Amino acid sequence: MKTLIICFSYHHNNTAKIASVFAKILDAEIKTPADADQTGICEYDLVGFGSGIYFGKHHKVLLDLAGKLPLMADKKAFIFSTSGQTGKTEKFHQQLRERLQLKGYDIAGEFNCAGFDTYGLLKIGGGIKKGHPNEDDLKDAEAFAQNLKQPATA
Ligand SMILES: Cc1cc2nc3c(=O)[nH]c(=O)nc-3n(C[C@H](O)[C@H](O)[C@H](O)COP(=O)(O)O)c2cc1C
Repeated sequence: MKTLIICFSYHHNNTAKIASVFAKILDAEIKTPADADQTGICEYDLVGFGSGIYFGKHHKVLLDLAGKLPLMADKKAFIFSTSGQTGKTEKFHQQLRERLQLKGYDIAGEFNCAGFDTYGLLKIGGGIKKGHPNEDDLKDAEAFAQNLKQPATA
């Protein structure tokens, strides 16, 4: 399965760490949204889209890319993120999920874990979720990617 991972990660490179785990297991290339060619993306059977969560959603550059994609047929995508708050994956991923589904993608899975967050006033207290993604988060990412590799059972 030809796999591409498109990742935007800038705050503490938290999401990039998760993308690297996925890339290793799925034998995938990692590209930034700027480097991912909109039409070239059609050549991949499985595409992972991920970034940190900023103001309740994925980064604008990723959302914009998803909005510009051509219509896909028989292609799978997965969505991933890291965030200061956890337990809100459904909501945090909503915009990206809707855009990808509108383009015809079948969403094969979604992954979120904690990421060190020092945005705004959080900086004063040294931030939250220090040390994340940690070893356990990386193991969870590994298990998630392994699961994506399993053939679908009827
Ligand atoms: C500008 C900004 C806005 C953020 N907004 C949120 C938010 O709405 N919810 C949340 O849980 N975390 C928020 N965070 C924390 C990031 O999602 C978290 O640190 C993430 O792991 C950053 O990923 P990155 O290092 O890959 O960029 C925000 C961080 C920044 C810098």
